[in-house]
Parts: sequence; C-alpha cells; structure tokens
Amino acid sequence: MEYRNFRKTEEKVSLLGFGTMRLPLLREDSKKIDEALAIKMIRKAIDAGVNYMDTAYMYHGGNSEVVLGKALKDGYREKVFLADKMPIWLTKEAGGIHALFENQFKRLDVDFIDFYLVHSLDQKNWQKVKELKVMPFLEKMKEEGRIGKIGFSFHDNLDVFKTIIDEYPWEFCQIQLNYMDANYQAGVEGLKYAGKKGIPVIIMEPLKGGKITQFVPESIQAIWAKAPVQRTPAEWALRYVADFPEVLTILSGMSSIKQVEENLQILSSVLPESLSLEEHKIIEMAANEYSKLIKVACTGCEYCLPCPQKILIPNAIDFYNQWYLYHAYVPIKRDYDINMLKGRRASDCIGCKSCEEKCPQHLPISSIMKETAKIFE
Ligand SMILES: NC(=O)c1ccc[n+]([C@@H]2O[C@H](COP(=O)([O-])OP(=O)(O)OC[C@H]3O[C@@H](n4cnc5c(N)ncnc54)[C@H](OP(=O)(O)O)[C@@H]3O)[C@@H](O)[C@H]2O)c1
Repeated sequence: MEYRNFRKTEEKVSLLGFGTMRLPLLREDSKKIDEALAIKMIRKAIDAGVNYMDTAYMYHGGNSEVVLGKALKDGYREKVFLADKMPIWLTKEAGGIHALFENQFKRLDVDFIDFYLVHSLDQKNWQKVKELKVMPFLEKMKEEGRIGKIGFSFHDNLDVFKTIIDEYPWEFCQIQLNYMDANYQAGVEGLKYAGKKGIPVIIMEPLKGGKITQFVPESIQAIWAKAPVQRTPAEWALRYVADFPEVLTILSGMSSIKQVEENLQILSSVLPESLSLEEHKIIEMAANEYSKLIKVACTGCEYCLPCPQKILIPNAIDFYNQWYLYHAYVPIKRDYDINMLKGRRASDCIGCKSCEEKCPQHLPISSIMKETAKIFE
C-alpha cells in the first residue's frame, strides 16, 4: 500500500481510504447492510494496509457507524485513523450538536475519533456552523481528547470553498474529485488552493460514485482501448486523482470483495505526478467524450430560479443528464429520490414557463421536467 504523510509529520495515511457510504446490502432486504460481508471487506482492507476509515451520521440510516464500529473490534481500531462527521443540518440549536456528537461515539462504540469533519459544508451550512458555535465546541472536544484533527467536507462552488478555507485554521478538508468533476465544486483549483495553504485534502467520489466505472459507453471504451497501457475504468479514474501531490488519501466506497481487491492493487504503488502527458491526454479525451454525451446544455447558472413551485430546476436537469450520460445507471434513481424533496420534484412543474423566459440557454425547461418526471417518478 502506498502511504502519504499528513503534512510533514510522521503520520502516514494509506492512499486508499475506505468510504462506508456504499457498503454491501442484503439480497433479501436491500435496506440492510450485509454486515458479515461488510466486516470481512473492511478487515481485508485493513489487513492489506488501509488505515483510514470514513463514516458519517446518516450513511445507511446510521448503520454505517454501527457496522464500522463492529468491524473495528478485535484489535482493528488501533490499526486505523477513524473519521466521522457532524451533520449540522439535523439540529436547530447548539444543544443538538452535543447530542449528535455523543450518539456517534455510542454507535461506533469508541472513545476517540481521529479525524472529525463538519459534514457537507456549503454557504448555508457554514453560516449555521458559525451561528451554532460549532467550531468552539469541536475545539473543546479536541482539548478534552475526544477527537483529533478538525476538518470539513464540502459541496458548493469554488468561491464558497475558498471562503471557508480562509475563515478557519482547518487541519484538513474533503472534496469531491474525479476526472469528470475537475471544474465542478472545489475542483482541481480548490485542491491546489488548499494545497498551497498546507491543508491536506481527502478525496471522495473518485469514481463518481461508480458512474464512470459501470456501464461505460462504447465511445469511451474505444478511447481506453487505444491507450498504450490497458487499465480498467476504475484504474484510470483512481490514478487520475492519485496523481495530485496535494491528495492525502482517496476514499472509495467499495461494495464487494472484488472491488476492495482491485482498488488495493491499483493504489498499492502509485506515486504522485507519475502519469505521462499522453496518459493525461487520454483521460481528458474520455472526459470530453462523456461531456459530449450530455443531453441538455444546462450550465447550472440558476437564472431559472426561484421556481414558483420551488423545484430545484438545475438539480432536476442534472439528474436527467446523468441518466443518459451514465446509461440509465440505477443508483441515480435512488439519488433523485433522496435529493429531490417531495412536493418540489419535476412532476410538480405546472408548465408556467416563467423559468424559460429567464434561461440564458433558452432551454425548454417545462418539457425537460416532464421527461425527468417520466424517468424518475
Ligand atoms: N462528506 C460527504 O459529503 C461525502 C459525500 C460523498 C461521499 N463521501 C465519502 O466518500 C466515500 C467515497 O465516495 P463514493 O462512495 O462515492 O466513492 P466512489 O469510489 O466514487 O464510488 C463508489 C462506487 O464505485 C464503484 N466501485 C468501487 N470500486 C470499483 C472498482 N474497482 N471497479 C468498478 N466499480 C467500483 C461501486 O459501485 P457499485 O456499488 O454500484 O458497484 C462503489 O459503490 C463515501 O463512501 C463516503 O465515505 C462523503
């Protein structure tokens, strides 16, 4: 396993980290984690040298923390850095923060969390973190020896990322990055920005949640086939992220033993800045080809908002695009269900077309909403 140093200290973090948001599910009840298999996978990864485990309060309805806690029994806890996150959107008051925090320790059945993140920061959540005085609370918990390093995970645009980075002395951060998202959210520019400030970056969604590894379109397969070295789509994607020296560890949410074995093998000996110019060009060609397959040229400018029906139109269009781009990949339906709130979904469009008057791309939004509803609802 390849390791990278946390800043210049002696702490060595494995380049492959284990994300526990997509643990394997039971065949007979797809709402429940296949605990035995999940524990086997986690321990297999640790035995092979993985030493960073990432969970969160809401993954698998709270069961990710429980199952990870079980996997870390029998001497495994001491072998890893454990990361968990504060879901500040689940409370309206400062007291709620404390209760959520204590519940995490109970679920995990541990007395120390090495890397503690404020979960999913965006502009609104960052404001709330300040109002609820979350950072002083976490500093106190650090002083009391309950948690180690303090960081945040992020989902908003680059400007917001830079603001959050600048406004607090973070010890690390976590961003979404893969070759399709180089210019999305924090993106490569955000990664470099954090790097310049000496803030190690943890990567999530390196395989875009599996969308760029499953059901790869023929035109993309043809690009990979022409490459001078033959690699799986997962290897191309993981190597793309591993090439950045600012990256401390890459979290992959593995859902089978085979994926654990493949990702262990891919990241067993990958040095930063080791991809050739030609290899970078091939990855860029694949990303460009994926982009060409996009059906609706929405730029996400949000000029269409607010919608009188409160539909998050750019998000709905994004799901519509993803559906075609990633060949009707089934988990996209699940993500639509989770992210598009009932009463504010594509099917709630009343066809008033007030959005179409404002859209700089002149998109036929009301018919796109109808199509989107047909697919997802
Ligand atoms: N803080 C946040 O806001 C936040 C948000 C997202 C994620 N995260 C964390 O980051 C972790 C990583 O994100 P992610 O789960 O989206 O990672 P990812 O690696 O982009 O996607 C994981 C999915 O990719 C597929 N996969 C994994 N290895 C593969 C391989 N070798 N070959 C083919 N397909 C493979 C699997 O899909 P199938 O299951 O369909 O086979 C797996 O479920 C999460 O687990 C979570 O811990 C945090």
